[in-house]
Formats: sequence, C-alpha cells, structure tokens
Amino acid sequence: MHLREWKAPLALSGIALGLLRMAGAALVSTPGEIAAIPSWDLQSSAKTGNDLTALSKTGVDTSSWHHVKSSKCTLMGCLIESGFYNDTHLFYSDNLRTVDAKQFTVPWLYRQEFALDPAPGRHFFLQTNGITSRADIYLNGKQVADKSFQVGAYGGHTYDITDISDKTNALVIQAHPTSYYYDFALGWVDWNPWPADNGTGVWRDVEVKQTGSVALGPLRVVTQLGASLGSQPANVTLKAKAQNLEKTAVTITASGLIAAEAGGEPLVWTKTVTLAPLSTTDIVLTNVVQKPTIWWPARWGEQPLYKANLTVTTSDGAISDFSAGKFGFRTVTSQVNAFNDTEFTVNGQRFQVLGGGYAPDMFLRWDKAKWEAEAKYQLDLGFNTVRLEGKNEHPEFYEVADRLGLMVMAGWECCDKWEAWSYNNDLAVPTPVWVDADYVTANASMAHDAAMMQTHPSMLVFLIGSDYWPDDKATPMYVNTLKAADWQVPIIASASKRSYPALLGPSGLKMEGPYDWVPPNYWYDTEPSDSRLGAAFGLGSEQSAGGSTPDLSSLKKFLSPSDLDDLWKNPNKELFHMSTDTSSFHTRKIFNNALWKRWGAPTSLEDYLIKTQIMDYEANRAEFEGFSAMWNAKRPATGVIYWMLTAAFPSLHWNIWDYYMHPAGGYFGTKVGMRLEHVAYDYAHKAVYLVNHSLDKKGARSVDVQVIDTSGKVTYNTTVSASTTPNTSKSIVSLTKALNNIKDVVFLRLALSDDKGAVLSRNVYWISKAIDTLDWENSEWYVTPVTKFADYTALNKLAAANVTATVTKTSAGAGMAAVTLENKSSVPAFFIILNLVDTKGQDVVPLTWSDNYVTLWPKEKLTLTVKSMGGAVPAAVQISGKNVAKFTLGLS
Ligand SMILES: *[C@@H]1O[C@H](CO)[C@@H](O)[C@H](O)[C@H]1NC(C)=O
Ligand SMILES: *[C@@H]1O[C@H](CO)[C@@H](O)[C@H](O)[C@H]1NC(C)=O
Ligand SMILES: *[C@@H]1O[C@H](CO)[C@@H](O)[C@H](O)[C@H]1NC(C)=O
Ligand SMILES: *[C@@H]1O[C@H](CO)[C@@H](O)[C@H](O)[C@H]1NC(C)=O
Ligand SMILES: *[C@@H]1O[C@H](CO)[C@@H](O)[C@H](O)[C@H]1NC(C)=O
Ligand SMILES: *[C@@H]1O[C@H](CO)[C@@H](O)[C@H](O)[C@H]1NC(C)=O
Ligand SMILES: *[C@@H]1O[C@H](CO)[C@@H](O)[C@H](O)[C@H]1NC(C)=O
Ligand SMILES: *[C@@H]1O[C@H](CO)[C@@H](O)[C@H](O)[C@H]1NC(C)=O
Ligand SMILES: *[C@@H]1O[C@H](CO)[C@@H](O)[C@H](O)[C@H]1NC(C)=O
Repeated sequence: MHLREWKAPLALSGIALGLLRMAGAALVSTPGEIAAIPSWDLQSSAKTGNDLTALSKTGVDTSSWHHVKSSKCTLMGCLIESGFYNDTHLFYSDNLRTVDAKQFTVPWLYRQEFALDPAPGRHFFLQTNGITSRADIYLNGKQVADKSFQVGAYGGHTYDITDISDKTNALVIQAHPTSYYYDFALGWVDWNPWPADNGTGVWRDVEVKQTGSVALGPLRVVTQLGASLGSQPANVTLKAKAQNLEKTAVTITASGLIAAEAGGEPLVWTKTVTLAPLSTTDIVLTNVVQKPTIWWPARWGEQPLYKANLTVTTSDGAISDFSAGKFGFRTVTSQVNAFNDTEFTVNGQRFQVLGGGYAPDMFLRWDKAKWEAEAKYQLDLGFNTVRLEGKNEHPEFYEVADRLGLMVMAGWECCDKWEAWSYNNDLAVPTPVWVDADYVTANASMAHDAAMMQTHPSMLVFLIGSDYWPDDKATPMYVNTLKAADWQVPIIASASKRSYPALLGPSGLKMEGPYDWVPPNYWYDTEPSDSRLGAAFGLGSEQSAGGSTPDLSSLKKFLSPSDLDDLWKNPNKELFHMSTDTSSFHTRKIFNNALWKRWGAPTSLEDYLIKTQIMDYEANRAEFEGFSAMWNAKRPATGVIYWMLTAAFPSLHWNIWDYYMHPAGGYFGTKVGMRLEHVAYDYAHKAVYLVNHSLDKKGARSVDVQVIDTSGKVTYNTTVSASTTPNTSKSIVSLTKALNNIKDVVFLRLALSDDKGAVLSRNVYWISKAIDTLDWENSEWYVTPVTKFADYTALNKLAAANVTATVTKTSAGAGMAAVTLENKSSVPAFFIILNLVDTKGQDVVPLTWSDNYVTLWPKEKLTLTVKSMGGAVPAAVQISGKNVAKFTLGLS
C-alpha cells in the first residue's frame, strides 16, 4: 500500500476553480498570518509561451493546463498527482524509462490566483523556501524576482509584495530546468535512476504573509543549561530580526512567551524597542526557566517541548507580527578522540550514533503520515539518528523527529554541484567549480535551512560537506551563516576522513565502505584498525551490509514475471531497480555470488528469496551488533549510519524496509542487533558481548548459552551471570571451545534474562564450520572481497519441522494480535517468517512485530506480538520457514 491518499482527479475546470477562489476569502487576513499557495495550475512554457507579464495578470484561461491540489510538487510529482502519469505503472519493471525527459528541458510555469485584502498599514510578503533549479517570479504583471536571485532547491527568500498586491492576485513562477552538475538541486548520485525532470519545480511551499508596519524574520531560540541540566535554571533567549517597513521611526513592544506544552504557567515578558526608519534590528528577549524539563533521544527519556512566541505590537496596541516555534532543552557536543574519531554527547551522556541514511520519494512527494510511520519504524528498530545527505525536508519532518526523540544528522550532499571543488576527483563529469554566484546561492541555502532547523531539539549536527570538505571560502561562509542563525549544535566539515578545512579540523567521520554485501565477521575484524575500513570502530557515515531484498509480496508490485525470473536465473544481470546504470551497484552480483557459494544455487524463486532473507537478516544483525559490541573497545565504535534507511523508489538494495513499508529480513536482523539490552555473538573471536544501550535499566542479568546441531542435539549448554553497566558493552564469555568441533553447521541460542527470569533478548545464530575469509588488501571502495565462503548448504537438508501456531490474544479491531508458535519436532525450526495480511491477502503495513524471522529450538514455544499502525484490519497470518511448510492462520 502506498500511504499517500489517493486524490481524485479534478472534476472542475481551471476556470471554474479560479472563479471559486476569487470569490473566496483572502489567503491571509491578520498580521503574522502565513499561508501557502494551496494549489497550482502548471504547464510547459513550450505551450504557454514566456510572456510572464501577461500570464501573471488575472483572468488567464488555464483550463487546458495541469491542475494539482498540492501546495508543492516537482513537475513529475505534479504530473503524477494530476493523473497525467501513474506511479504504479511507472514503477513497474522499467516503465520509468518511457517518460520523455525532453519535455523538461524548457521552463515550466506554476500559476495561481489568490485574494488579499490590502489596506494602508498592511504589508504583504511572498516567501519562497527553494525552487528547483531557479525561478522567475511574477505577480500581477510585475516581476518579483528573477532567476539570477531565486536560485537553488534550498534558496528561500522573502519578497515584499505590498506595492503590487491587489484584491485579486495572479502569481506565476517560471521554474527553469535542472542539471545536477550545474545547479544546486537534490541530486541522486548512484542511489536510483534519476527522475526525468531532475526534481525541477516548486517542491517546497510558496507562502504569503501579512504583517503590520514591523515584520519579523524566523524565530531563533538560544538555550543555556546549567551543568546539572534539569536541576538548575536555564536561560532562554528568543530572537528575531525586526524590519521597520515605514519611512518613520516606530516604537514597538516586543513580547516573549515561553510555555511548556505539558501545561503550567507560561512565562510572558516584554521590552520596548524603537526602530529607525526602514531599519532592521535583531530583537533579543532573555528570560530564565527555573526548572527546565530535559528533552531526550527516545531510548533515554521523554521529549518535553516548549512553545516560544515572539510578538511585536505597535503603539496603537495592534499586533504587527509574530514569530513562533517549538524548542526543547538539551545539549549536544562533539569532539574527536585520540583516534580522530568523532564522539557525540547528548545531555552530557556519550551518545553512540545509530541509524540510517534517509531518501525521500524519488519525485520528492512529501507525505507526513508516511514520514511519521518511517520515524516510528526507526524507533521500533532502536535507532536514534537519521542522516540527511542533502535532502533536507519540510518543517514537519523536524517536528516529527522532535516529538518522537529521533536525532537528525543534517548536511549537504556529495557528488554534484554541491561539491564542485577543484580537489574533488570523484565527480562523474567535469562539473564547473564554484564561481562567486555559487557561493551566494550556497550561502542563501545555508541561511534558509539553518533557520528552518534551528529551534528543533532533534538537531544533532550539520555536516557542511559529505564526501568532500568545502573549500576555504565556503567553510567560513557556512560556519558564519550557521552562527548568525544561532546554530547551537556541532558543525562538522564532512562525512569522510579525506581531508578537512583548517577552520573546523578533522571531521572524525569515516566513509570507507562497505556499500555491498560483506560477511558477518567483517565488523569484528577490527585489528589493525585503519586497514579494516568499515569494521566496527569510529563513526561510519554510510555503511551497508548489503541486506535489502523485499519479500515476494512487494516484489510482485514492481517486477514483471521475467524480472522475477532474472533475480534467480541471471544473478549477474544489470537490473533497473538498483542503482543507476553507471554504478557499481547496478547488479546484485556481489550478493548473489555469496549466496550461491554459501547456500548453493537456488532451485526456484521461493528458494532464492528465503536464502536472500536469511543473508539479509544475518548481514544487518552483524553490522549493528558489531558497532554495539565495540562501543567500549580500545578504539570505540562511536556510531554507524546504515546505507540506506529508505529507498526513493521500489528498490532491490540500500534500504531497511521496502518502498511499500513492508519490513523483511533486513529489518528484523537490524531490530535484533539494536536491542536495548542484548547479547551478541562476535563471529571473528567467538566471544559473546553483553550490550546495554540504556541509561537506567538496573539489576543482575543471566545469559543462557546453548548450541545444538542440525539434528537438534545439544552440544553445549551453560549459563553465565553478569552484572550490567549503563551505556556500555563488554565481553562476558568465550565460545572458542564450544564451537571448535563443528561438523557442518550448528545453531547458537543466546538468551538474556533479568533477575526475575524475564527474557530481555533471545537471539539465534547459524554458525558454519569456518567463517568467510576476507581479503582486506584487495578491498574496493565499496566492498571487501571474500576469498573463501562459509558453507551453509547443510541447512538446505534440514529435516522438516512441524510448527503449530495459535492466536493467543486478539484485538483485531485495534490491529493487535499475539501469535504463539510451537515447534513440535525434535529438530530446529529454522527462520520462520510471519506475515500479517488483510482480508484481500495484502500485506498489512505499516506494522510492528515484537520479533520475526525467528528460529525455534526443538519443542520450543515462542510468542510474538504484532500491531498494525495504520487503518488496515488484519485478517490472517501467513507462516513459512526454511524447513517449515507454509500455512495460514485466520485471526477471526
Ligand atoms: C495506475 O496503473 C495501475 C497499473 O497499471 C492500474 O492498475 C491503475 O488502475 C492505474 N491508476 C489510475 C488512477 O489510473
Ligand atoms: C538532468 O541532469 C543531468 C545531469 O546534469 C543532465 O545530463 C540532464 O540533461 C538533465 N535533464 C534535464 C531534463 O534537464
Ligand atoms: C544565565 O545568564 C546569566 C547572566 O548572563 C549567567 O550569569 C548565568 O550563568 C546563565 N546561566 C546558565 C545556566 O548559563
Ligand atoms: C503568537 O502570539 C500571537 C499574539 O498573541 C498570536 O496571535 C499567535 O497565535 C501566537 N502564535 C502561536 C503559534 O502560538
Ligand atoms: C589527528 O588529526 C590531527 C590533525 O590533523 C593530526 O595531527 C593527528 O596526528 C591525528 N591523529 C591520529 C591518531 O591520526
Ligand atoms: C553570506 O551571507 C551573510 C548574510 O547572511 C553575509 O554576511 C556574508 O557576507 C555572505 N557570505 C558570502 C561569502 O556570500
Ligand atoms: C544496562 O544499564 C542499566 C543501567 O544501569 C542497568 O540497569 C541494566 O542492567 C543494564 N543492562 C545490561 C544488559 O547491561
Ligand atoms: C542446560 O543448563 C541448564 C542450567 O544452566 C539446565 O537447567 C538445563 O536442563 C540444561 N539443558 C540441557 C538440554 O542440558
Ligand atoms: C504436527 O503436529 C501436530 C500436533 O502434534 C499433529 O497433529 C500434526 O499431524 C503434525 N503434522 C505433521 C506434518 O507432522
């Protein structure tokens, strides 16, 4: 299911709509009010011509144009919404190739009419938040901005339109074509095929604002916390630029308001300020919050938010403008340790960065409900950080992160105009290095997005470069502009260790791969560290374990029967639903080679898919267990960003759940690897680590360790007692002896219990006689080759297990159920997959499972709970496994 609400094609013609709007109320009518242009008519300039003066007069017949009810969409996004294209069709097989890119090599026009109510003393502004690639803006036959100023996807500007506004207004925005190499856009590098329009258009809101004689800029909030955080008073300063729009001096009352969302008496105070004619002054209002409640990342505490509002009132008592936002009390620091690896702290606690790299929809269609579900998936996984490599989003993105306790690692993107430095040797084509005008665009982009992000407690850091650091002119420019926006969290030069600008010093983030499949022992092979590239030390800014294959239910939505055949019959074939065709990731060669070698050639699509799910699960679990386990190593693993979190289109790689929000093996491997309190197996050293990501879970712990062979016979059984330490990991037992006599493959079960016997983490591994052999010396930037593969083929011959299931508790209306699985056999039941479906047999998404893709010991019973997060009503659970025949259990 695509979460986007399906929007009915417009029944009304453009003219009729225009008339309706004209008859409607003013778009904004009170000082301080801001409204987005709610919908657009759009058309190619090849059809409309370029007489923007005429086209931006009221009454133009746009009935033959495309019509959208969205306040923002790229050309492709708009054309899908208007029904001209159909994304279900476009995403199927390689249909995307059929979109004619030539139509986007000329400018397109976005047009809308809206009402205002001008009167003396009222001022109106047009606010852009970035238009790709650049735009000419006309209102009521007059030019507001031209394409040399309104530049860049993040270049937001405010234009005073008071003198040209009228009761009925016609706005035309001419968006110019985008090249990823010449323009500041949202590029995709090798992530996926590029949209035919290169993201051109009004992808963020265009807003109209009304004020009185003094207008305010965006609110900034500066907090100062005492050393002992919540128990000491905090200083809070509200700031905004005030612009006197009159030719005379104006005296205003500036009032500040701070109120805890949770309730309680708001703080309100005022200050009188006189503004010289046509001047701009920073209004600064400071107060003290006696008992600040502290905002924490989700796993460490609550997310209390505060409202802040700065209002200016003129001497007649009328509100002239206000600037409001939400903030939270938290501190973030970063420093490089003795290894030049960055370590963050949040609220004074060492903070291990654990998360993934975000991709928006390929057509940049914003869907708040989908983002909320994605954010909840991240918390379900135990992630604490989302990385934006460029792809900075809309204000709602940060609001959701604030509310849920997810930190945001924001920054600029690599590999195109954003990093067109003379010393960047990795650009795909010779992209012209920045000229003066490019610095101006980048500077405006920084200023705009810093203002959008500044108040949000979820901000962890801004990376002003990704693969490459900015040059010595751009670095101070970015830093000064962030500081001018009162940026309070760290600023880091890049996401890699290539080099750095003197002003900021080493970035302390590494970008050494892998980006494709590596075996589970990769992460633990940490000595000598630097030659071990992406292994679990330092802070990896983009690291894939290679585990991202959707389940069959999703694959059928975007692959034709012959595409599905290719998956297992042509393992080296170039595939459309991977990276671009110039990329190292255009095939599944590396992953498939490992699958063939480790598991034997697939005998059917189903056989291929269960083997991929096992490999994906194992790969992702090991990456997160590795980084979790090495948090307290001599050279600590200070964090990892999985490459990637989400995919921009239905993809066969680089995501933790698929485009349709269906979580599969890679998801549940990640979820196990990220458990709050966990026991993890180190494949390289046969050690067991007790991992603790929490700050406050207390008590004695015991770990049951059991090994069985493929027939189910116990070959090792012990219990280890351990006491735990917050926010640490330590090695508690060696399994060298237990695992030194493996015939072919054994299963290892680790179960962590608290002092009352409650199981906190239960985790099963399949371990072969010998681990995969890595050839570090011959590593590529994207993978370390394996010279000898682990042999799991014995698991293809497991005796069939008889597993029964019952729904022990169901509240189908609320979308919740608990499924108890029981293995009746004397052999292990390997890799059991549960899939919740609705009455039509369609996957229920989004949803959370307590655990899934599980392996049961002989005679073992295990209860898994599931909750549907959306409106879908679950009807049945489909159950299957590597040695478990498929069956379906109704939920009625
Ligand atoms: C979009 O395409 C799909 C698949 O081709 C089709 O089933 C669906 O009806 C189409 N939707 C619309 C609104 O035309
Ligand atoms: C999209 O960008 C690429 C890379 O700069 C360029 O080659 C292509 O012509 C652009 N497409 C359009 C429609 O402008
Ligand atoms: C708040 O500001 C006052 C006055 O500048 C200063 O003395 C105090 O240390 C500040 N408090 C904190 C927690 O920084
Ligand atoms: C900010 O204060 C002004 C003036 O009291 C009020 O009109 C406005 O609704 C407030 N805004 C928010 C978001 O609280
Ligand atoms: C860390 O970086 C600094 C500055 O470049 C350098 O002098 C130092 O040798 C580096 N330390 C290590 C352990 O690499
Ligand atoms: C960046 O913008 C700031 C104002 O926001 C300005 O003071 C500064 O000169 C600009 N720097 C460059 C290099 O354009
Ligand atoms: C994690 O740390 C907390 C906080 O002290 C402690 O209560 C808990 O027992 C620890 N758990 C593990 C598995 O170390
Ligand atoms: C495993 O050891 C535990 C005690 O640590 C014991 O209770 C249990 O019976 C043993 N199981 C097997 C199969 O030996
Ligand atoms: C599985 O076990 C159940 C319950 O013991 C039994 O009724 C059923 O016949 C068994 N099925 C198979 C295929 O052995």
